[in-house]
Amino acid sequence: STIVALETVDSTNAYAVSNDLPPFAVVTAESQTAGRGRSGRKWHSAEGLNLYFSIVLNDIEPQKLLPMNIFAGYILADTLKDIADVKIKWPNDIIAEGKKLAGILMETSFSGGKLEKAVLGIGLNVNIEDFPEDIAWMATSLKKISGRNFIREEILASFMNNLEEKYDDFITGRINLINLWPFYSAFLDKKISLHKDGVKTEYTERGIDAFGCLLAENAYGRPETIVTGDIGYD
Ligand code: BTN
Repeated sequence: STIVALETVDSTNAYAVSNDLPPFAVVTAESQTAGRGRSGRKWHSAEGLNLYFSIVLNDIEPQKLLPMNIFAGYILADTLKDIADVKIKWPNDIIAEGKKLAGILMETSFSGGKLEKAVLGIGLNVNIEDFPEDIAWMATSLKKISGRNFIREEILASFMNNLEEKYDDFITGRINLINLWPFYSAFLDKKISLHKDGVKTEYTERGIDAFGCLLAENAYGRPETIVTGDIGYD
């Protein structure tokens, strides 16, 4: 499949959204000058150490976008399972040893009110050892976990193989995200704090629904369905 390997770019997601590329085309970069994270945050994109890549997805329906985040988390977790004990923090942080190892950001473009293109962007901390001070407390890398360096291309190739192998099963609904969740979630039946619009609320995580929303029990023992927000690293 098509690989666009860039030295430096503002954001591989931005590049993949705005350029005409075939399905499963991958855009990679050695560094990003404006790497994007969720909720308008920046993604730390140190040069030459990590994986920053975006994949063009074909024929995806709008209601599959949130589940796709979860599915991509499963694929990434499976890809890394022999290297580290990785779990998912809803909706799609990959964590190891309680710290963030990778992040996933889906971006879309619409034309005439119709979903035109979806791009799956992944930032995976591979060989980085020193993080900026503001994220050092909550970030980790494969190197920090295992003490060794990795060939980034091998990890990317293995991720793409896993993704392409399972993609159709996901699109056609043969993969049941709800049933898989207990094997991947970092916090099932555990206390979580959800940060949303500057407010922090305590819950107990109970699972996900078919839309990829989080099912959680509030402090009064009542079930809630959570559509947006971030689970804290505290
Ligand atoms: C998050 O906030 O956890 C999501 C981070 C996603 C970062 C990746 S790096 C490659 C791709 N290009 C971007 O600008 N962002 C994603």
